[in-house]
Amino acid sequence: MKTFLELVQSRQSDRAYSDKPVEPDKLERILEAARVAPSACNAQPWKIIVVSDAEKRMQVADATANKLLAMNHFTKRAPLQLVILEENANFTSTVGGWATNKHYPHIDLGIVAAHISLAAADEGLGSCIIGWCDEKKIQKVLKIPKNKRVMLVILLGYSAQALREKKRKSIDEIVSYDQY
Ligand SMILES: Cc1cc2nc3c(=O)[nH]c(=O)nc-3n(C[C@H](O)[C@H](O)[C@H](O)COP(=O)(O)O)c2cc1C
Repeated sequence: MKTFLELVQSRQSDRAYSDKPVEPDKLERILEAARVAPSACNAQPWKIIVVSDAEKRMQVADATANKLLAMNHFTKRAPLQLVILEENANFTSTVGGWATNKHYPHIDLGIVAAHISLAAADEGLGSCIIGWCDEKKIQKVLKIPKNKRVMLVILLGYSAQALREKKRKSIDEIVSYDQY
């Protein structure tokens, strides 16, 4: 069994997938990992739409790609998509956000995305968090009310890519002790 650090290091953004479908019990555990994610004032300001229907999946994939900018040309290959919507936060999270000039739901959704992608890695699955998307197109395809923001699309599937070495800043660049 992997240690947590080994699990974190084994997660990467996968941009090629095999045709093998994701088993329902694996998806269920990934969604449970999302469900228990922390959020400011426990507001849980999210909804997750699982897109498995082939036609809808292609339409959502199209809405994440941009030919001109050569963005996200690979998204049709993933057998499953989790579309992450921002829901209204509760009163305390909203008031706390006003007081501190922070939009907590964006932070909350990032944490959910981390739970999902790490849970996927734990299940031996690949994933890719996609932030670039045409929200209006996705709202239309999935019948999402216009006032609900589509913040992320997370691709899931069996990766067809080898594990890459991480390109990251050094610890010294990102951590300091007791002062800036
Ligand atoms: C909020 C967010 C949005 C992202 N959007 C995209 C995207 O639209 N397309 C893409 O290919 N990767 C996207 N990524 C993946 C990042 O490019 C990737 O996490 C980063 O380069 C580090 O590589 P790694 O995930 O393989 O370790 C996104 C990641 C995050 C956290």
